[in-house]
Amino acid sequence: MYAVVFGKNPKLSKAEFWAFTRRFGLRARAIENSENWLIFECNRRIEHLFHKLGGSLKLIKIIGKGEEAINEFKYSKHFTISFYGKEDWKLWRKMGSKIKKNFKEEGSSKFFKPRNVYSMPSELILKGFPETKDFTFLFGNELYVGETLMIADPFELKKLDVGRPRQRAILSIPPRLARIMINLSEKREGNFLDPFCGVGTIVQEFLLQGLNAYGSDINPKILEAARQNIKWLRKEFGLKRNAHLEVCDAKRLQKCFRTKFDAIITEPYLGKPLKHFPSRSEAMRMAKELDHFYYPVFEGFAKVLKRNGRVVFVFPAYKLEDGKIYRRDRKWLKKLDFEVLAKYTDFEPRHRVVRDIHVLRYRG
Ligand SMILES: C[S@@+](CC[C@H](N)C(=O)[O-])C[C@H]1O[C@@H](n2cnc3c(N)ncnc32)[C@H](O)[C@@H]1O
Repeated sequence: MYAVVFGKNPKLSKAEFWAFTRRFGLRARAIENSENWLIFECNRRIEHLFHKLGGSLKLIKIIGKGEEAINEFKYSKHFTISFYGKEDWKLWRKMGSKIKKNFKEEGSSKFFKPRNVYSMPSELILKGFPETKDFTFLFGNELYVGETLMIADPFELKKLDVGRPRQRAILSIPPRLARIMINLSEKREGNFLDPFCGVGTIVQEFLLQGLNAYGSDINPKILEAARQNIKWLRKEFGLKRNAHLEVCDAKRLQKCFRTKFDAIITEPYLGKPLKHFPSRSEAMRMAKELDHFYYPVFEGFAKVLKRNGRVVFVFPAYKLEDGKIYRRDRKWLKKLDFEVLAKYTDFEPRHRVVRDIHVLRYRG
């Protein structure tokens, strides 16, 4: 039995997790569903696939239920304790002391806790991992106790973002989201295209996942930046595969690529940056205007996608002046033979434009 702990945007991360199980043909069954984590059984080991998830922070092996399960822990000289779903300093100390006492016969041990948090942040665990064990307590309807097996590496995600030679801070998509969007496509392998690739964040992720990677952008200077980033990535991560990058208008993809694609994963042009939170009528007008651009783009997608190909596309939604979110319903997608399979939002509290991520199937 396993558990995964979700990072920010747990709703999207959970949807990613289930898409990921379908993508890799895993038969997983939920045992306990909580907002921020999921306990599940799986027909196969998933340790070797965990790094392909963008929205999960930790993979935990569940050892047992209830406090007594700590008696099953294997000795470790150093350990940390992570609580999820309960902030109880006294209980935290009690558990730590009990584990320490249990370990006494085998040797001395030490445990530690960072200030103000009850679950060890990945950065700290990674410093000592795996020698320093992270024992986890998930307080839901019942208490599940386990040990952290894998941790998403925040240093690697940071390197993929700010460590590369060419960056565009505001316009780039976070690498974790690129990873999430690939899983949402549920396509395990094949030809993957980002037709608004910018400096290449999503194309980087295609390559890291061993997919046939294609990227294009209308701006030759930006495409040159993507080329530099891909060159850097291949060297840093020792990748043999290369990406096919073309200067191309996303409305005319069939002129640039002879390939047919299994999936298109992209964050397109989302309109000009907003200086204030818009009113509902302003938001409706902006979304409608942008649809005039997206419509021919989807007509172009239809020409280069395989039948049943998937599109994971970020449409803009807007945080309004009254705090509500405006999401446009795009009926024209159906007319072009695209079926909307799912929609998820993703945004930072300070953002005015909200990502309205659509997962679509091209009926062809
Ligand atoms: C939001 S950015 C994409 C950012 C990208 N995901 C990244 O991480 O760098 C949108 C990109 O779309 C490109 N673009 C705008 N209109 C285009 C068009 N008609 N065809 C192709 N690319 C276009 C812009 O040059 C810009 O690089």
